[in-house]
Amino acid sequence: MEKIRNFCIIAHIDHGKSTIADRMMELTGTVEKREMKEQLLDSMELEREKGITIKLTPVTMKWKGHTLNLIDTPGHVDFSYEVSRSLQAVESAVLVVDATQGIQAQTLANVYLAIEQDLKIIPVINKVDLPAADVEGTAAQIMNLLGCSREEIIEASGKTGFGVDKILDAVISRGPEPRVVSRDGSLGLRSSITKALIFDSYFDDYRGVVLYVRIFEGEIAKNAEILMMAAGTKGLALEVGILTPKMKSQEKLSEGQIGYIVTNLKTTREAKVGDTVTLAKGLAIKKDEGGTEVFDTSGKKLEPLPGYKNVLPFVYAGFFPVSNDQYKELKEAIEKLSLSDSALRYEPENSPVLGFGLRIGFLGLLHMDIIKERLEREFGLDLIVTNPSTNYEVVMNNGEVLEIKSAADLPDASEIREIREPWVKGEIIVPKPMIGNVLNLINAKRGHQTSVSYIEERAVIDFEAPMANLLTDFYDQLKSATSGYASFNYELNGYRADDLVRIDFLVAGHKMDALSVMAHRSEADGIGREVTKKLKEVIPRQNYEVALQAAIGARVIARETIGAYRKDVTVKIHTGDRDRKAKLLEKQKRGKARMKRFGKVDIPSEAFTVMLKRD
Ligand code: GTP
Repeated sequence: MEKIRNFCIIAHIDHGKSTIADRMMELTGTVEKREMKEQLLDSMELEREKGITIKLTPVTMKWKGHTLNLIDTPGHVDFSYEVSRSLQAVESAVLVVDATQGIQAQTLANVYLAIEQDLKIIPVINKVDLPAADVEGTAAQIMNLLGCSREEIIEASGKTGFGVDKILDAVISRGPEPRVVSRDGSLGLRSSITKALIFDSYFDDYRGVVLYVRIFEGEIAKNAEILMMAAGTKGLALEVGILTPKMKSQEKLSEGQIGYIVTNLKTTREAKVGDTVTLAKGLAIKKDEGGTEVFDTSGKKLEPLPGYKNVLPFVYAGFFPVSNDQYKELKEAIEKLSLSDSALRYEPENSPVLGFGLRIGFLGLLHMDIIKERLEREFGLDLIVTNPSTNYEVVMNNGEVLEIKSAADLPDASEIREIREPWVKGEIIVPKPMIGNVLNLINAKRGHQTSVSYIEERAVIDFEAPMANLLTDFYDQLKSATSGYASFNYELNGYRADDLVRIDFLVAGHKMDALSVMAHRSEADGIGREVTKKLKEVIPRQNYEVALQAAIGARVIARETIGAYRKDVTVKIHTGDRDRKAKLLEKQKRGKARMKRFGKVDIPSEAFTVMLKRD
C-alpha cells in the first residue's frame, strides 16, 4: 500500500489536463513516444474534436518505485456526478490552472468537490511557456483559494514537459497512501466484505459491460461472482486487470488498487457509476421500491460505500427522423447507446407534425449534443431535434403529481393546481468590473444573486435561477456580456412553483405540437413575438398567405403573416449563369429533403429549433 498512489487531475476546460496526463505517460515510459497519439486518454473521436473529456480512462504508471494510478475526469458540468465519483476513488488531486486564464468556475467547482472528498490538493500552474502567462498572478489566486504557500505550487508546461517530473514526485511525497474503509469514517467501517467503487463503466460490443473500479476493501479475483449493492444485480467477473492504458489482465485486484472488471452484464444500467461491487457468495438480497438491501448469512444488513446517487436527466428533447421509415433505426441506435450510458432515458413520442420519434432525456445540453452527433455520425441518421426543455412537476387539483417532459403533455389548465419547474444553484466567475453585466443577465433570466465574494481580482457570484431560462443560450449571452471572460458552473437545486403557462404556435391555423413551450407568464408575450418572427424567417413562402400565431390556450398573443410567394427561385437570375442556377436548385432540393409537410405547408427542420437561437 505504501507504494501505491491514486490520483486525478482536475482543471477547468482547456487548462491542459489531458496534455499533462500525456506527458506523464511519456515520462514514466507507460507509453512509448512513438505510440503516443496526442491526448491518448481522450479516445473518442468526438471528444478529440470538441477538445473535451467525456469518458474517464484510468491508467497505471510506474515512477520511482511506486505505482501511480491516474484517473482522468471530465471537465464539463453535465458530468459533475462522474467527477465526484472519480474523486472518491483517489487520495490526491493535481489541480491544473492555466497561467494565462487563472482560476475559473470549474476550477473552483472541482476544488470544492476535492475538498469534500478530503483529497490532498497539489496545485500546478500550467502553460508557463506562453508569453501571456501570468505566473505570479495565478499563484496569488491559488494561494488565496487553497491557503497554501507559494513553494507548494509547481510551475509546469504540458507542451514542453517542463515541471511534469516534479508533479509526479509530489504525488508520491505529498499524496497519501490508499485509504481503506476502516481508517476513514466517511467511507464506512470495515465490514469484512469486499467493497469496490464503480467510477466508470461502458459497454463494449465484444466483451459486454466493463467496469472501472477502485477496491476499498478485500479483493476481487477472476471468475468471482459479483453483486452490485445498489442495483441488486449479480454477474461474473470474467476478467480483472489494470490499465496501462491498454487492458492488462491479472489474477485479482486487491485493496487500494484501481483497475477494470469485464463482466457478463448486458447494460451499464445493471452496474451504474457510484455503485458498490461486492462478492455475491453467501449474501442475501432484498429488493423493493425503496431500493436494494443486502444481508450476510447472519442476517446483518451490509452497507455499500457512501454517496451513491441515481442520476436523472432533466433536459428533454424530441428526436424525429426526417423520414419516418428511419424510426426503427433511431430506436435501435438509442437502445445501443443507452447500453453504456445509464443516464440516458427515452420513450416513444408521436407528433401529428413530425410523426414517430423519441423523447430523450439528458444530463445537460452538452450531453444532448454528444448523443445527437453520435446518432448522426455513427448511425447515419438524419434527425429533426425539437427545442430542448426541462421537465416539470404538475400538481393536479386532486393532489396527484405528474412529471411532464414535454409541453405538449400539459393537462388542461382547469385541472391544474400548480406547476413546478427545476431551479439551479450556480456560480459565475468574472473580473470585478463586469459584475454589473452579469447581475443584469441573471435578473433577466428570472434569477437572483445569493452572494458575491472575491478571489484577488475576480468576483465569484453565487446565484439561483430557473433551469429553463439557462437552457437555450445563456452561456453565449454570458460570454458576450463579459467579452468571454466569464466561466460558469451549476447544479440542480429542486423544483419551485410559479405562474407557468404553455405557449402554442399555430401555422395556418394548425397547432404545431412540437413547437409548444413552457414559460413564465411574464415572459410569454416576448417569446411569442420572437418565435413567430423567427418562424417567418425560416418557413418558405407558399402560394397563398400563411398566418403564424402564438397562443396561450385560446388567446392569441402574437401574430405574423408570410406573404404569398414567387414561383421559382431561379426566376431572378437573368444572366443565364447555369452554374449558379444549378446550385440554387440543388440547394432548394436539399432544403426540401429536410422539410416536413404539414397540412399544406412545408416546414423546414430549423423551425423546430428556433428557440435555441433566441436573442
Ligand atoms: P478538457 O479535456 O476539455 O477538460 O481540456 P484539458 O484540460 O484536457 O486541456 P487540453 O489538454 O486539451 O489542452 C487544451 C489546449 O491547451 C490544447 O490545445 C493544448 O495543446 C494546449 N496546452 C496544454 N498545455 C499547454 C502548455 O503547457 N503550453 C501551451 N502553450 N499550450 C498548452
